[in-house]
Amino acid sequence: MRLPLLRVCSRSRATFTAAPLKLKRLSDNANACHFTHSAGLRAQTCKALVYSKHGDPAQVVQLEDVDLPPIGAQDVLVKMLAAPINPSDINMIQGTYAILPDLPAVGGNEGVAEVIEVGSQVNSLKTGDWVIPKDAGLGTWRTEAVLSEDDVISLPNNIPLLSAATLGVNPCTAFRMLSDFEDLKPGDTVIQNAANSGVGQAVIQIAAARGVNTINVIRDRPEFTHLSDRLKAIGATHVIKEEALRRPEIKELFKTCPKPKLALNGVGGKSATELLRHLQIGGSMVTYGGMAKQPVTVPVSALIFKDVKVRGFWVTQWKRDHTSDEGAFKAMLDELCSLIKQGKLSAPICTKVSLQDYSKALEAATMPFTSAKQVLIM
Ligand SMILES: NC(=O)c1ccc[n+]([C@@H]2O[C@H](COP(=O)([O-])OP(=O)(O)OC[C@H]3O[C@@H](n4cnc5c(N)ncnc54)[C@H](OP(=O)(O)O)[C@@H]3O)[C@@H](O)[C@H]2O)c1
Repeated sequence: MRLPLLRVCSRSRATFTAAPLKLKRLSDNANACHFTHSAGLRAQTCKALVYSKHGDPAQVVQLEDVDLPPIGAQDVLVKMLAAPINPSDINMIQGTYAILPDLPAVGGNEGVAEVIEVGSQVNSLKTGDWVIPKDAGLGTWRTEAVLSEDDVISLPNNIPLLSAATLGVNPCTAFRMLSDFEDLKPGDTVIQNAANSGVGQAVIQIAAARGVNTINVIRDRPEFTHLSDRLKAIGATHVIKEEALRRPEIKELFKTCPKPKLALNGVGGKSATELLRHLQIGGSMVTYGGMAKQPVTVPVSALIFKDVKVRGFWVTQWKRDHTSDEGAFKAMLDELCSLIKQGKLSAPICTKVSLQDYSKALEAATMPFTSAKQVLIM
């Protein structure tokens, strides 16, 4: 994966030739080029949120002028429309994520863009199409980009902008976790923590569309009732506080729905252990996030007497494993877009922030208890 091949920063006017995104802990085929550069037709510049060293995003990210390479025969010029700030984007900038680009790099892994020009040999895309990245590492916090047509996948351009901008990571993660680990039937139950997160809200809605109950665990807060009502309005069966998981009254809840076959853990630490305690015999817990930055402890009894399966999931790996089977990704996006059009899947609550106000957005994205996704509007 590669950042723009030729980038000129307005402040220093230094010229960089970006190297392929380096994988620090993974060695696979992830060095595929995202930005192609063919012999020059014309140069353009765009604005981009660039970081040249790892650290606190509010300190190291800056808005800069960046040169765009000419549009090659198999490239498209896109105008970014909207791009969220996800925890993984923050972790990449901090230098703590599993994949890290060579620096300097443009931030952002997700977002929706409109095709505004196509190269002479582009077959799959046309002007006006909406596209999202196929893989992580594209650097979406920018106003325009020249991309290979193979690096993006199209979406219908008649779905809400915020749904499109936030579709490629969290709803796909929710969709896969609800599909690939347990054979969930209508009436079954899933339990999850961080239920108000982007992933959590997608889990609630996709599960509800399939007739699957959800027990949604969130941290206590002054506006718990308001948040609980909001999650119930999008299809949550039950919403409970972390503490309630440890109380005997939880047994009452299991009179209204079966014990969960599947637990989804985006937090880690004690919260994950509590999810495990309520799983059905033979059920699975899938860890996809570690917001509490604490390891997952599995009680010996859960393994011996309940034979629980403890698994992990990373949507980036799923996408890379399916690069030669684009149909699988397309089929998932089609199903998700169909849910969006039926009103069964909405974007998480978002705060729209203009690209110029990125400092505010980056700061807000690292704040706890906000229950809102920061989305940069270009
Ligand atoms: N493995 C994958 O493929 C994959 C894909 C997508 C996302 N993820 C991961 O999933 C997690 C959620 O991502 P997102 O975009 O859905 O997040 P998000 O919308 O930004 O929401 C963050 C969530 O984390 C909770 N949280 C923050 N700090 C916490 C703490 N110390 N203890 C417990 N909960 C805490 C927040 O709850 P409060 O409201 O209580 O603060 C909120 O529910 C992240 O770790 C992300 O990297 C993984």
